[in-house]
Amino acid sequence: MKVIGSPSIPPVNAAIIASFYKGKGIESQEKELASELTGFISKVVLEEKFTGELGKTLIIRTGCDYSTATKIILIGAGEKERLNLNRIRKIASIAVSTAEKERLDNVSMLLPDKDYILLKTAKAITESAYFTAYKFDKYKSSEDDYSGLQNLQIISPSDEARLVNFYQGICSQGIHLGTITANAQTLARNIASEPAKYMTPEILAQVAQQVARDNNLKIKILTKKDCKRLGMGSFLAVSEGSDKPPRFIVITYTPQAKPKKHIAIVGKGVTFDSGGLSIKPSDGMATMKCDKSGAAAVIGVMSTMKKFHPDSKITMIAPAVENMTGGGAMKLGDIVTAMNGKTIEILNTDAEGRLILADAIAYAVREGADEIIDIATLTGACKVALGDDIAGVMTNSDPFAQKVITAGNEAGEDMWQLPIRDSNRDSIKSNVADMKNIGDKGLAGAQTGFVFLERFTNDKPLVHLDIAGPAWPNGAKWPTGFGTRALINYLLNHS
Ligand code: BES
Ligand code: ZN
Ligand code: ZN
Repeated sequence: MKVIGSPSIPPVNAAIIASFYKGKGIESQEKELASELTGFISKVVLEEKFTGELGKTLIIRTGCDYSTATKIILIGAGEKERLNLNRIRKIASIAVSTAEKERLDNVSMLLPDKDYILLKTAKAITESAYFTAYKFDKYKSSEDDYSGLQNLQIISPSDEARLVNFYQGICSQGIHLGTITANAQTLARNIASEPAKYMTPEILAQVAQQVARDNNLKIKILTKKDCKRLGMGSFLAVSEGSDKPPRFIVITYTPQAKPKKHIAIVGKGVTFDSGGLSIKPSDGMATMKCDKSGAAAVIGVMSTMKKFHPDSKITMIAPAVENMTGGGAMKLGDIVTAMNGKTIEILNTDAEGRLILADAIAYAVREGADEIIDIATLTGACKVALGDDIAGVMTNSDPFAQKVITAGNEAGEDMWQLPIRDSNRDSIKSNVADMKNIGDKGLAGAQTGFVFLERFTNDKPLVHLDIAGPAWPNGAKWPTGFGTRALINYLLNHS
């Protein structure tokens, strides 16, 4: 599917999609839509008792080919005063799913409100439309003659001729920006969706290499030998149970002018999480190809560098391993030493994410990052606490976290901060090492993950995003690429 702007003429076999506000006179809305059909739409709306409730749809067969549109799909937009970007995203998503249910090839969508922050609206519609149209069906033989919606055209309505070009210009800009972020998110979803059999740490590194090449970025792919030399005993311990060699992937973007600051973005890249010897039950393991979603998101972010070129230096780090139960697998009671010299007692091999992130964060510090954001499918506890559409945020710097949360909300990715207390810090004390990799009370599992990671920051500001829930919500067909848009937005707003 492609999202396109106004100037091109809608092709045949098309429908028009329009938002319909609750409690606003039918006639005035009808006029905006299609004067040729005045009276007809009102009649159907009244007959069907369609009220414009948010998300409800009404499909009207026009019986004519007005503007080559055989159908008009009204989508309830709720109360006009309550319209916001999240609602606009929802309307766009319903537009695409309804069009696909109707097996349409081409649709035109009127902007929900021509006066509502136009550029952001067009961008949000574009991102949401690509998100909804996404499919991961490359391994499915196609049985269907319908190959999905082809074009979604966004029409910016303006009656005033002198404003048409102005509106269209801003709208195209929004579509342009939205398409870049949507492509990054699609890349992240493709990575997360790929089965572990095919997306091994080595292959993940190749994907990263391609992204670096396409964006003229520096890339370093560290092998086991390199990591050993650097003392990454924590990262390597996780890889020992697998016959797939680990890869520690580092991509650097440097702006042309003097960098404003140096931001590190670190993504968990466990290409499959069996739990290791603390093995997961089958049900819990079924979705664990998505345990590389953090790495997928940060690689997705780097794929936009050529187009977005932020003003800060950005170091992307994706430690990639498979967590398996082979003969070399880490064992409970093992003690490993991370790159910063700290020792870790391993008491649960399924808490492997923090082990690989420990060395990745220490590496970011060594590279001189001023601030670090890590993104990881880290704990089932976070999913239990916040549900599967919100990411947990934990930090040692509240103002930093606030900026990331705001960037996420603007991008349509919800985040919520969890409190960190000294009792969380106490819970990872070990009798035999500097810390252990799980808490001793079975409480506040998400926060335990954070206080562990914090030990590798050398007091640099860290925002930790736990995306165990939203990376692949229960019942969703595909991983979401969650975090890609939030991180891009953060980099654009604050660097
Ligand atoms: N990859 C999992 C977390 C996860 C769970 C992601 C569900 C997505 C959906 C992580 O490595 C893990 O297993 N964490 C353990 C930590 C525990 C052993 C302290 C967990 O959540 O049970
Ligand atoms: Zn695990
Ligand atoms: Zn994991």
